[in-house]
Amino acid sequence: MTDTLTITDNRTGKQYEVPIQDGAIRATDLRKIKTSGDDFGLMTYDPAYQNTAACRSRITYIDGDKGVLLYRGYPIEQLAEQSTFLETAYLILFGELPGAAALESWVREITVHTMLHENVKKLMEGFQYDAHPMGIMLSIVGALSTIYPEAKRVQDDEIRQRQIRRLIAKVPSIAAYAYRHNTGRPYIYPDNSLSFTGNFLNMLFKMTEVQYRPHPILERALDVLFILHADHEQNCSTSVMRGIGSSQADPYSSLAGAAAALYGPLHGGANEAVLRMLKEIGSIAHVPEFIKRVKGGDGRLMGFGHRVYKSYDPRARIIKQTADQVFGVTGRNPLLDIALELERIALEDDYFVTRKLYPNVDFYSGLIYQAMGFPNEMFPVLFAIPRTAGWLAQWEEMLLDPDQKIARPRQIYTGAAPRDYVPREKRQQP
Ligand SMILES: CC(C)(COP(=O)(O)OP(=O)(O)OC[C@H]1O[C@@H](n2cnc3c(N)ncnc32)[C@H](O)[C@@H]1OP(=O)(O)O)[C@@H](O)C(=O)NCCC(=O)NCCS
Repeated sequence: MTDTLTITDNRTGKQYEVPIQDGAIRATDLRKIKTSGDDFGLMTYDPAYQNTAACRSRITYIDGDKGVLLYRGYPIEQLAEQSTFLETAYLILFGELPGAAALESWVREITVHTMLHENVKKLMEGFQYDAHPMGIMLSIVGALSTIYPEAKRVQDDEIRQRQIRRLIAKVPSIAAYAYRHNTGRPYIYPDNSLSFTGNFLNMLFKMTEVQYRPHPILERALDVLFILHADHEQNCSTSVMRGIGSSQADPYSSLAGAAAALYGPLHGGANEAVLRMLKEIGSIAHVPEFIKRVKGGDGRLMGFGHRVYKSYDPRARIIKQTADQVFGVTGRNPLLDIALELERIALEDDYFVTRKLYPNVDFYSGLIYQAMGFPNEMFPVLFAIPRTAGWLAQWEEMLLDPDQKIARPRQIYTGAAPRDYVPREKRQQP
């Protein structure tokens, strides 16, 4: 027997049975409830999709109250400790951990796609020397759709698989080019003898040495950070990826849109904002004053709070450990003490406790990236690299889901009633 929800329309006394499946009702089932004779049917009003499931997904599970994050059922803590980013990307995309042979060929397929078309260099030259690398990255990703026009055939599995590999492999190369452009250094070609993260560090930081050798602790720390950022179910940028993809646009165009969503300070720009905030606070002595200001509604404690996590973000806990390892190599980031003090005070403060505001993944990631030598502008780019795997997995899931159509929310119209055009000379407005 299916569970149903009985809705009584108080105006007419009519009752409606709406099936409940997986803890949800279908919004379209409400259409049979009419608010007037010519009504289209009852809608749900849910700005910012706070209580709307827009898809069924088998990829990532979050229990925000318990602080649980699973990729394809595997706890993030175990993956961060035992997996690599590329293995985790495979898991996210294909649903299972790869066997040894599958992993080897997956790594090889990604590795052979790391090189960028030489035209990309010409595109890069069009950007101002100080262009934000995130703006560069999302533009170049979008531009790749013109280099790979076959990508339009999104229903063709073989073509789709090729673009997935290209994007995972090339986004780090684009990110590195953007950084080198910004710093006025020559672009570095990929070194396929290095790991995914090792090669990325090579493309960023290689100078005149014959072969760049990444520091193993920093290489592993970045890989762990990539694992933590690989997917996070239906967040803002992922919803954009699915939304653009639902029109059957090619994956480069969809991913450029997703990256644009990630650029915003409330999403991928948050760790950059955390560092700005820590710098502005300046010293531990100013922390209580800053907290008072935030509580008074003047600004937010960046890196705190989350739409879904209402307890400690599990990624924040792992990142804190990674920070210790990185600082062991790079030396301690002086802003860390301010961050620790902010966290200590906020976790004891009623304002933050009652609103269930805990540190999120961005609270510490910026400190690590800064210690590793990344300028602030690179932070959202460092988020976009691993999230590419999640975006692509979600995009493909959407394309193969028979329930999905082109995304098209409805609205409640609150504008003017029909009226006649007023000639310019007769208008009241100045
Ligand atoms: C992440 C975030 C956008 C989620 O927002 P949300 O789910 O829409 O939550 P709301 O904005 O409705 O906030 C709920 C309450 O907590 C307060 N709040 C939320 N985050 C806060 C923060 N970081 N600092 C201070 N107060 C905060 C809000 O002012 C609001 O208080 P009120 O009920 O008195 O009005 C929000 O917590 C935020 O802006 N955090 C800082 C940015 C950040 O770190 N983003 C990275 C996310 S991974």
